Amino acid sequence: MADLAAILDEPVSWTAAATDADLRTFLSDLQANILKGHGRSHAAHLFLTFDGMAPGAVAALVRAMGAHCTSAYAQLLRNRRNPPYLDGGPVRCFFLSARGYRALGPHAGLPAGEAFAAGMAARREVLGDPERARWDRVGWRDGEPDALILLANAHPAAVTEDLEIIESWLNGTGARILVIERGLQQHRRFRPDADPEGVEHFGYVDGRSQPLFLREDLDRERQALAAEPGGEAWSPAFKPSQFIVADPNGRTPHAAGSYFVFRKLEQDVRGFNAAEDALARALFGKPTAQQSDRAGAMVVGRFEDGTPLTLHDGERRQAVPNGFTYADDPKGAKCPFHAHIRKTNPRGDIRRELKLPDDAADRAPIMARRGITYGAPRPMSADGSEFADAGREPQHDSGLLFMAYMASLEAGFEFTQRSWANNPSFVGNLNPAAGRPSTGVDPVIGQTATAAERAHRYLDGHTPGAVPKTLSFENFVHLKGGEYFFAPSLSFLRSV
Ligand code: HEM
Repeated sequence: MADLAAILDEPVSWTAAATDADLRTFLSDLQANILKGHGRSHAAHLFLTFDGMAPGAVAALVRAMGAHCTSAYAQLLRNRRNPPYLDGGPVRCFFLSARGYRALGPHAGLPAGEAFAAGMAARREVLGDPERARWDRVGWRDGEPDALILLANAHPAAVTEDLEIIESWLNGTGARILVIERGLQQHRRFRPDADPEGVEHFGYVDGRSQPLFLREDLDRERQALAAEPGGEAWSPAFKPSQFIVADPNGRTPHAAGSYFVFRKLEQDVRGFNAAEDALARALFGKPTAQQSDRAGAMVVGRFEDGTPLTLHDGERRQAVPNGFTYADDPKGAKCPFHAHIRKTNPRGDIRRELKLPDDAADRAPIMARRGITYGAPRPMSADGSEFADAGREPQHDSGLLFMAYMASLEAGFEFTQRSWANNPSFVGNLNPAAGRPSTGVDPVIGQTATAAERAHRYLDGHTPGAVPKTLSFENFVHLKGGEYFFAPSLSFLRSV
């Protein structure tokens, strides 16, 4: 019999579960969306408070909701591609914050961890977050959520219908909805013959780079990587134990769950676009369209269509590569050290800088990202390839609902935000002996009160003879609400 630790030690094969009873109990007890993103383009996230409810009433609510939650196994069995998007019916997930566990009183123990116990708002100083007084007024400023219900579907009307049923059921339970955040994944078609890709509101392909711990996803990715010139220099294979832990309240030997971060990140798209244009002018004088694209890519680390900046323009292809490292770019000449994707996944930079024997320090903080955009979709050109709102781009009320699963909040999200994104020394001058200038904070998500830490060094190594320049980039992403949750096993939810 394979115990949970053995299952979490190797990428999980869901097709093998048909003949492996241990795998089947594991997958039937784990919630959907962890092993693989739900992939639906429409979602609703309901944040609840149990204030005033007795522990028994909270337990009854959790049991009732648990009966309707989707298991990982059901998600994987039902998934189907309804070109170009993913479908397969509704996905429903349920999460509890530390407050939610406490509201259950004697019915449940608190999952481990200082950050989880404290909650996101209390970790403000660790994360460099703005004060709660600057979060969204509705739902986020006054109440703290005890639970989150996530409803996802390929069709918006189906999400609305599910939402209405849940809202009327909640009415009789004593729980109160603090706020509902709707998610709507925006897409963009970069090539006429290719499927549209999910993009975030600044216009860049998002969700491309993921740690893979589902065997079938990994095999598919490895086939694609075999066709890439660099092959699999950066391995997408991760142990499930980096994202999934035993559920302390589980009722089966294979009961597992995952820590979950939710952050509502508002994007000032007009401000970001103007800053990208100003950066292009500062770098290239009168920039060509290609140079303008490159300036933006120096902030993000990928071009809008997802092509990594560390590759050359000529290397742009239909499939967005993800097996690359920065081994050929040790000075940040092709892709600056400060670029968002290099800050949040250094792909071996730490190993090289600190002369470590392996990539463990580079790989340990990687999370399973499951975000979706929110707010009105930006208007598009008729062929869906370009945005058609120049000068009228949204500044408020739209952005990214950043979500991610991990085995440790401290080692995953908090480490990435604090020690990588907010750390001006990371990674370009981690090693003082190298005598390099400061890297600066991540220009997309870095949070600092020090203006100098928003100054970055740009060296256009793609253009022969280019001279490095130090230029500042403002912060256009603002935290408007968020919380830490745990996604418990279904056996707990259904029998608490
Ligand atoms: C990748 C945008 C917030 C961590 C990306 C990519 C884009 C992007 C365009 C490249 C696509 C991909 O590789 O999947 C944004 C925007 C954000 C945001 C606009 C806020 C509004 C965050 C936050 C974190 C984060 C809060 C973590 C603290 C990552 C990671 C990657 C990534 C780990 C993958 C890097 C890689 O593996 O190469 N993001 N992101 N992002 N982002 Fe973000």
